[in-house]
Amino acid sequence: MNFLRSFAKASKSRINNRTPFLLVTSRSFSQLHSQSERPSFGIAFDIDGVVLRGSAPIGGSPLALKRLYHECAGTLKIPFVFLTNGGGIRESKRASELSMLLGINVLPSQVIQGHSPFKRLVSRFENELVIAVGKGEPAAVMSDYGFKNVLSIDEYSSYFDNIDPLAQYKKWTSKEVENNTFKEMAPRNDASPQRVHAAFIVSDSVDWSRDIQVLCDVLRTGGLPGREIAHQPPLYFASDDLEYQALFPSERLGMGAFRIALESIFNRIHPNALEYTSFGKPNPSVYKNAETVLMRLVTSLYPNLQVLNLANGGDNIFKTLYMIGDNPSVDIKGARQAGHPWFSILTRTGVFKGKENHAEYPADLVVDTVQDAVNYILTKEHVS
Ligand code: G3P
Ligand code: MG
Repeated sequence: MNFLRSFAKASKSRINNRTPFLLVTSRSFSQLHSQSERPSFGIAFDIDGVVLRGSAPIGGSPLALKRLYHECAGTLKIPFVFLTNGGGIRESKRASELSMLLGINVLPSQVIQGHSPFKRLVSRFENELVIAVGKGEPAAVMSDYGFKNVLSIDEYSSYFDNIDPLAQYKKWTSKEVENNTFKEMAPRNDASPQRVHAAFIVSDSVDWSRDIQVLCDVLRTGGLPGREIAHQPPLYFASDDLEYQALFPSERLGMGAFRIALESIFNRIHPNALEYTSFGKPNPSVYKNAETVLMRLVTSLYPNLQVLNLANGGDNIFKTLYMIGDNPSVDIKGARQAGHPWFSILTRTGVFKGKENHAEYPADLVVDTVQDAVNYILTKEHVS
């Protein structure tokens, strides 16, 4: 704890005085972790409120991330992943976007989004009709995972005349149809849709009123809107964040807020309470999966380690895994629950804006920015 306190002091004085940050050693990661020596730490970066706000880099993130690559070759030096509850686009596309915004080369395998665990449900629903809700390309995300019969809620709704009585007032929808941007959104009266076997909330709902209406229709009727009440099909949320930090100065309502709205309404109009499963942070399984992904990343960077991994059953590769997040009740709570080897670092660039540590979910360390967090980690791990 003394070390943490002195780091806080050092970090503060560095920021105030603009003096170079103290680095206790000049050994590089590659020297420290040669092919025969196993890397002892990894980093998971939250995105919204830590690395980006909207699509603007924050907290010195481009410079901080650049330090995790070999200066000359530009290849990855320190194993890290992005661990976000956001999404709505394929991991490969998100990797390209992040690479462009941050000026680094992010691999698709380094991107873990809220909906990434949906992949595990492919075997259950592979050929069944499922609907995908949210901003971006929710159906493309699900198809990419292997779901063979998936419709976005935009397209699914278009099969039903008048399912959304407010549609005519939604100027953005009519504009898109007019422009033929989303041809498949035009109503198809002759279609007789199959039963929906599951609904997946992939990313933030764009049109809450339409989505809540259609989801209530689907979920109350066993997946056949307009029919009699029947058993609720499974409902999955990619995450349950009540709020998150975007470009606006105060936090924005997230998927958890949408879940509360849907659940409250559903429970008022249906005899049985809404059943659902939420993925994403702070679920311990997300941190376990991040650990596995980081382990794979290390073994691809250091192929000789595969032998070591097998020898110890693949466990305990990392002495420390750092979670850098801005949301105490999501990022920090999750890292605390996950326990060893997770070490939580809370930044002040997003949801958390307090002076001291968070009272309910205190982090192992509180810093101003992601750059401070990376400085701390590299110093502690003796990486220049
Ligand atoms: O919609 C995004 C938000 O819920 C959280 O994203 O990167 O802070 O986990 P992130
Ligand atoms: Mg965040």
